[in-house]
Amino acid sequence: MNSNLLEQLKWRYAVKKFDSQKKISERDWKTLEESLILTPSSYGLQPWKFFVVQDPKVRKLLTPHSWNQTQVEDCSHFVVLAARVELDDSYLEFYLDEMSRIRNVPKETFAGYHKMIASDLKQGPRSKMIPEWATRQVYIALGNLMTCAAIMKIDTCPMEGIAPPKYDEILNLNGTSYRTAVACAVGYRSTEDKYAEAKKVRFTREKLVEII
Ligand SMILES: Cc1cc2nc3c(=O)[nH]c(=O)nc-3n(C[C@H](O)[C@H](O)[C@H](O)COP(=O)(O)O)c2cc1C
Repeated sequence: MNSNLLEQLKWRYAVKKFDSQKKISERDWKTLEESLILTPSSYGLQPWKFFVVQDPKVRKLLTPHSWNQTQVEDCSHFVVLAARVELDDSYLEFYLDEMSRIRNVPKETFAGYHKMIASDLKQGPRSKMIPEWATRQVYIALGNLMTCAAIMKIDTCPMEGIAPPKYDEILNLNGTSYRTAVACAVGYRSTEDKYAEAKKVRFTREKLVEII
């Protein structure tokens, strides 16, 4: 096994108390932003947006809607991961235009792909659950962010203990295609956070992995 990688994954834990004096450097933060952007998604549609809340006044407003968890205000960077809950035609067109531009091939090349996406997400059973589908994609970005941060020895706390409708209100998402899915506090653990020493509780390989 790759012990370096496993060491980092064991080092990470859901931080309860961040050192509010320690800030992530600009370079490291840009790297973590890229880890969000580089996250894979179904069909490559990237049904998400990442709000990095750095305004202390806004963070203060979010705290009471986050079960009063202190990480919201203590962490270096607070990310709200929002799902795109509408997949309108213009969004699909935008995606195909980007694909055509970036890969330098005519858009018509993707006609079959377009049809496949539309028949699944616009007409198929999944069209009835786009917010749920998009939220699942967002969680992949959350996982990517946490793992990449851990590899860089940067701490995180994933946070579902939030009230998404209140977040949407505070972040002015109502009236847009985006809705809050989950949040993630990113920064450096406080030396006073006793959870850093808590043993990991994970089920055994036998219980969780089956080779068929
Ligand atoms: C999607 C998700 C949401 C979570 N929400 C919170 C939260 O709101 N507050 C918190 O302190 N921990 C939260 N956690 C942390 C989990 O409790 C923690 O990851 C789990 O107990 C395993 O412990 P470890 O991450 O420290 O190894 C969340 C974890 C995940 C994956």
